Amino acid sequence: MEHLYQKLSVYDEEDIYPFHMPGHKRNPALMAGFLPYRQDITEITGFDDLHHPEGIIQAAADRAAALFGVRKSFLGINGSTGMILSAILSCTGRGDKILIARNSHRSVYHALYLKDLRPVYLVPAGIPGMEVNGSIDPADVEKALARDPDIKTVLITSPTYDGVVSDIRRIAEIVHRAGAVLIVDEAHGAHFVFSEYFPTSAVRCGADIVIHSIHKTLASLTQTALLHVCTDRVDPDGIQRQLSVFQTSSPSYILMASLDWCMDLLSQKGAGIFPEFVSLLEQTRKRLSETDSLVLVDPHERWPEQVYAFDRSKLLISCGQTEMSGPVLFDRLCRDYRLHLEMAVPSYVVALTSIGDTPEGMDRLVNAIQELDKTVPHKAAEEDRTAWISFELPEQVLSIAEAMDSPAGSVPVLESEGRVSAEFVVPYPPGTPLLVPGERITGQFLQNMRRYIQKDIKLVGLKDMDCRSIDVID
Ligand SMILES: Cc1ncc(COP(=O)(O)O)c(C=O)c1O
Repeated sequence: MEHLYQKLSVYDEEDIYPFHMPGHKRNPALMAGFLPYRQDITEITGFDDLHHPEGIIQAAADRAAALFGVRKSFLGINGSTGMILSAILSCTGRGDKILIARNSHRSVYHALYLKDLRPVYLVPAGIPGMEVNGSIDPADVEKALARDPDIKTVLITSPTYDGVVSDIRRIAEIVHRAGAVLIVDEAHGAHFVFSEYFPTSAVRCGADIVIHSIHKTLASLTQTALLHVCTDRVDPDGIQRQLSVFQTSSPSYILMASLDWCMDLLSQKGAGIFPEFVSLLEQTRKRLSETDSLVLVDPHERWPEQVYAFDRSKLLISCGQTEMSGPVLFDRLCRDYRLHLEMAVPSYVVALTSIGDTPEGMDRLVNAIQELDKTVPHKAAEEDRTAWISFELPEQVLSIAEAMDSPAGSVPVLESEGRVSAEFVVPYPPGTPLLVPGERITGQFLQNMRRYIQKDIKLVGLKDMDCRSIDVID
């Protein structure tokens, strides 16, 4: 069957005059030439319907399912965000308990808000001296499910933003034994199935639903994602219903065609593209491992107890032994070398690599790091960084929905200890909430917050962008 991207390009050449949306009418005289207005249509005759796919969209979804080796895939144009909301809402009843990793993306918390779900948290292993979250321990999943047999949905993020993978195979066995379903937010791991160099994808480890941001680590346009149904424990019709809630009724065919194109590229050429990428990546890693102060870290090799596996496409460069912080290194790379990395936390930066990288790009990164490595001063004295990972779950006084919908008022952060928060406080990156609405503000939270601010890490979630005040429940 014809591909979506082919049909779109043929349509552009046909003499069809549009008396329908979008209002730009694909009129080149009106629109500047550099954006793809000519292909920008939405659901018109012959182009199927994202919300009831039966034709060309269904065929693209079926090809995606075959490529990933799953029972069914859904195309998404609202990122993993839309997929996560749909997955959670389709697997839970209002007010249910749900077991989630604390380092879940904000879309997970928004799903909890929408259905007044009660979270039970899994806290990832801490790593001494670095802010990186470790894996979720399967034993913690087992204990939590034994303690709360009414939990019927579990959600784990694997890999994390910085590449840390959990033992999904064991976790899936435990979850299924307890009669629950496992959703894996594998937004950052869509490339895993294409090479054994990477950790095994959750689609092959027994997870029930797996979510991929194809735009993050593969080669489709921003916002595109796939939701895979991997077992018969979940109801695809229920997921489709929720996807219609969280996705626009005017989906962009440019986005969907780019997903289809990417799937086609990987089916046709993936067997050649990935070995080439892995070889370039390994050469880059080898060269980066020859530095003195700015150190390339593989968290699985360094901390095998806390990190089950690591996605080596993430270049995690530690500056913990130097006088330079992660955000400063990030800025220097951007300003002096025109290299824009994915993220910075106090003790490291992360460069995201993918099949889109070129030898020249990798070379520029290696040269920049080697040059900075020669000039950056070593730390005079070892800093006590253990406090960075002293995170204890705050007391949950109200559910997220109760807290977000309750009357609240603003108080100075310094006077907020003991109050119940109405807001999220999320260091970004890496995006793991320090505080969630409904939780009691503790002295330890305030101390962590101060540390993030001192280290120039942006805290998001607060209405007051300067982080001086916080909304608390009246
Ligand atoms: C772990 C994780 N899950 C989900 C998402 C949401 O993905 P998207 O941007 O495709 O909506 C993100 C975004 O960065 C993320 O880091």
